[in-house]
Amino acid sequence: MRTGTDLKQRVISTLVSQAGHPRGALGRLEGWLFAYRGSNRQRNRWAVGLLAVRPTDRVLEVGCEPGIAIAELARRADRGQVYGIDHSEVMVRQATRRNAAAVRAGRVHLTRAPVDQLPSFGEPLDAILAVNTLGFWPDPVRRLRELRDLLRTGGRIALVSQPRCPGATRDTTTRAARELADLLTRAGFDDIRTETLELDPPVACVLAVRPTPPAGGGSSIVA
Ligand SMILES: C[S@@+](CC[C@H](N)C(=O)[O-])C[C@H]1O[C@@H](n2cnc3c(N)ncnc32)[C@H](O)[C@@H]1O
Repeated sequence: MRTGTDLKQRVISTLVSQAGHPRGALGRLEGWLFAYRGSNRQRNRWAVGLLAVRPTDRVLEVGCEPGIAIAELARRADRGQVYGIDHSEVMVRQATRRNAAAVRAGRVHLTRAPVDQLPSFGEPLDAILAVNTLGFWPDPVRRLRELRDLLRTGGRIALVSQPRCPGATRDTTTRAARELADLLTRAGFDDIRTETLELDPPVACVLAVRPTPPAGGGSSIVA
């Protein structure tokens, strides 16, 4: 006999299986849950705060889902430009609806694109954010190098992880943070530091900077 707990587990695992690429009616439900789940809203606002976005910044979010962080980025970069990409059509639609006024005003630009086929953003970016999405990317070190090259020298990146796998604990978050820091090092970022938000499980935000090239040209980037 199926219990309420079995049903809850089945609903959760169905939603988790959608998380990498929300599609159709379930994808819409997923976006809605993401947008209203307190811990998601909290970790997105917190991460945007750590990125220290300034009013004129040009910022990109990769895997923007229903656009919660995009709204916060647009509020802070109110004289800048905010870009969001996600390979899910459903999510780009929800994020566009959620940020309709800023999209109409030409301050927010949302594109359906996978991280390995990024659109052009014109001028260099000041900051990049990716929350609970890097685990779905193909060849993450290569992707991070491409993102690094989109940043101006001194530009910031924030990679955020709140592990949602069943049984995730503080240790799971600590391991995820170490892995993110290692990927950033291999991709040639500098000044890597980790901040933690005490939710259950805790959220790690690993921040890093695109380094200044050495005087006389050449590159300080790890190949
Ligand atoms: C688990 S959700 C995280 C959403 C949100 N950033 C958050 O946690 O608050 C992962 C999102 O990343 C997107 N995504 C996953 N792999 C991607 C890829 N290769 N390129 C672009 N978007 C991707 C998914 O479509 C989904 O919207």
